[in-house]
Amino acid sequence: MGPDADRAHAQEPPPESPALYQQYCASCHGNEGQGLYRGPSLVDVGAASADFYLRTGRMPLQEPDQQARRGVSEVNFTDAQVELLVDYVGSLGEGPEVPDVDLAGTSLARGGELFRLNCAPCHNWDGKGGAMVNLENAPQLHDATPIQVAESIRIGPGAMPSFTHEALSEDEVEDIARYVAYLNRPEDRGGYGLAHWGPATEMLAGLLGLAALLLVTGWLGERERS
Ligand code: HEC
Ligand code: HEC
Repeated sequence: MGPDADRAHAQEPPPESPALYQQYCASCHGNEGQGLYRGPSLVDVGAASADFYLRTGRMPLQEPDQQARRGVSEVNFTDAQVELLVDYVGSLGEGPEVPDVDLAGTSLARGGELFRLNCAPCHNWDGKGGAMVNLENAPQLHDATPIQVAESIRIGPGAMPSFTHEALSEDEVEDIARYVAYLNRPEDRGGYGLAHWGPATEMLAGLLGLAALLLVTGWLGERERS
């Protein structure tokens, strides 16, 4: 224990923000990411959130009251610029890191089960966007990459709930990412195959999964009462 240890305990100044952040983000999120009336705080949202919002073209918004949906932003950053911004937002606090997603060895069947139970009520059993239980207008998942699927699960963008590691393990998240990739390109089965699964079985399983979820969450009950 010497002067070095003492220095490590001294209050660290907030990380210096890159010029790119000042130019494109600070007017809404504050000079140090602390948040302003125009945009929420970015402290503790994590690198995963910044990566998701930037790579899906949700940020930067032009106006604070715009809906932060895929492709709404008019700014196209380069990869290097996104990485710089992601590193900076990640340095502002604790929060999920950009996940590593490896689809090798994942289970398509288990991904399908998990998707029908946890995602289909909003995104529909085929990932084509929501209307089955019309809570919020959940988008179709056609453009979402496996990493973006994993990020969305951990950060819960907008009205989507986030899922903890207890709710969905890393392996289960990868199974779901695999299944979404399959939904988006069913012809590209990557050698994993669905074997005995046809579209009819898929749909039936989807409906059963939905019914189970509705029962569990009591949504059916709510409806009958009103
Ligand atoms: C015109 C205002 C505006 C600008 C400019 C802007 N944002 Fe945002 N940002 C918002 C608003 C409003 C939200 C909340 C949107 C929502 O949740 O639907 C948001 C949400 C976010 C989120 C999600 C936060 C969370 O709670 O998980 C991230 C990350 C983010 N912005 C990063 C950025 C970055 C990085 C930039 C600069 C490249 C930027 N934003 C530029 C207004 C802005
Ligand atoms: C309660 C409804 C709900 C549930 C359950 C839900 N989502 Fe979402 N999801 C949404 C909404 C609403 C959005 C749009 C959020 C936004 O843009 O701010 C969204 C956005 C997404 C996106 C981003 C799509 C894009 O192209 O930008 C992905 C990927 C996604 N969800 C995957 C999933 C997965 C996988 C599951 C299951 C583990 C799931 N969601 C469960 C409502 C839901």
